[in-house]
Amino acid sequence: MSASKPVAVVTGASSGIGAVYAERLAARGHDLVLVARRAGRLRALSAKLSQAHGTKVETIEADLTEEAGLAQVEHILATNPDVSMLVNNAGNGKLGATVAMSDADAAATVALNVTAPMRLTRAVLPPFLARNAGAVINIASVMALHSLPITSLYSGTKAFVLAFSRGIQEELAGTGVRLQVVLPAAVATEFYDQAGIPLSAFDPVVVMTAEDMVDAALAGFDAGEAVTLPSVHDGALWERHDAARAALFGATQNGKPAPRYLTAPAVAA
Ligand SMILES: NC(=O)c1ccc[n+]([C@@H]2O[C@H](COP(=O)([O-])OP(=O)(O)OC[C@H]3O[C@@H](n4cnc5c(N)ncnc54)[C@H](OP(=O)(O)O)[C@@H]3O)[C@@H](O)[C@H]2O)c1
Repeated sequence: MSASKPVAVVTGASSGIGAVYAERLAARGHDLVLVARRAGRLRALSAKLSQAHGTKVETIEADLTEEAGLAQVEHILATNPDVSMLVNNAGNGKLGATVAMSDADAAATVALNVTAPMRLTRAVLPPFLARNAGAVINIASVMALHSLPITSLYSGTKAFVLAFSRGIQEELAGTGVRLQVVLPAAVATEFYDQAGIPLSAFDPVVVMTAEDMVDAALAGFDAGEAVTLPSVHDGALWERHDAARAALFGATQNGKPAPRYLTAPAVAA
């Protein structure tokens, strides 16, 4: 890998949002480490990006729900001094009633959406902090802020990504390392093939292309945003949401029960 170009590691780069990140980051002058299970897809993307942008691409065929796959990527993040960016994008999830989901599917979703970004972020932050430079982009979802009857587990995993990212942002304050968390709404990708809900179930007006999503997210990154909601036109909505959240948290810092819970003791009949 050339030392002359910064290297971006993109998980889930074999399709959808991750493949667009790979293309856009190559165009911006990054060399790439692309991670996914479908090695053929990664190799085809690698050839395309090498030809179009002169990008050096290392493809890693890895299942990020398995220890061996995680350890392989952690090793690269911890030891390659050219790595300047990690995009934690790989993610999935069956959409359906909580009790209808198989134990294996539920465990795999938590492994991919929670354990993998947690492990990879923790692997890359020490070298980034040692160099006082580097960026992590975590792909969450608007479902981090919203649960539906069919999204309990998926929403829970994305709420983890948001909360994990927000805390790390506080830890990184004053350093040269940054973390952006991105909350896409519906994006036209293969996600819906595995989710069990077809993309055609959505009103087309609420669905964004992966290209528009990534370009908007990168514009938010360039603007220094900590939290990016590509489809939200009124940016003040997030500010109000976050201010209300902080006010609610402040109101919890009270060691006395709220008066509405101070009921008269029950009297035995
Ligand atoms: N599409 C949406 O509406 C939407 C909305 C909000 C957030 N998101 C989030 O955006 C991210 C990207 O999803 P997408 O929409 O682009 O879907 P996608 O096209 O299905 O891409 C998912 C990527 O994750 C990889 N992946 C899946 N399981 C993996 C595993 N066990 N190990 C390693 N890689 C694995 C897939 O590659 P392989 O199958 O080759 O391994 C693929 O490259 C996800 O985190 C998703 O939750 C999507």
